[in-house]
Amino acid sequence: MTGKIINLPKITDPRGNLSVIEEFAHIPFEIKRTYLIYDVPGGQARGGHAFKNQCEFIVSLSGSFDVHLDDGNHNKVYSLNRSYYGLYVPFMIWRRMKNFSTNALCLVLSSSVYDPDDYLRDYSLFLEITGSIS
Ligand code: TYD
Repeated sequence: MTGKIINLPKITDPRGNLSVIEEFAHIPFEIKRTYLIYDVPGGQARGGHAFKNQCEFIVSLSGSFDVHLDDGNHNKVYSLNRSYYGLYVPFMIWRRMKNFSTNALCLVLSSSVYDPDDYLRDYSLFLEITGSIS
């Protein structure tokens, strides 16, 4: 599995809609960290790594962008452009975020605090670990 789209509760209201993300209820992990990606210049990409242990949930709060996921055997591209769903990314998935629209605002919820040692930035090593090459 590369990733999974999770639909969030959407409480529609004439005053404006409301969506909620609660740990374990809507996403399958405890939230240890939240970070935002924004002001991405046209044509730039983020990511380009996997995490050894942490998993994440990615939501487009505004605008749109594409998340390219790769489990070592399968690739899939997810276009995120609404606040009422997000992309669950398990650990050991190579991910790259591209095609950010103007004013795209990306919310990432993570199961871990920031740990530079949890990053896997060498794609060949990633393929070795995931067993895709002998
Ligand atoms: P990085 O995760 O490599 O960005 P991306 O994968 O989106 O391209 O992080 C970029 C920089 O920001 C890096 O120097 C570490 C820092 N950073 C933190 O200090 N804390 C964090 O929670 C994150 C995600 C990054």
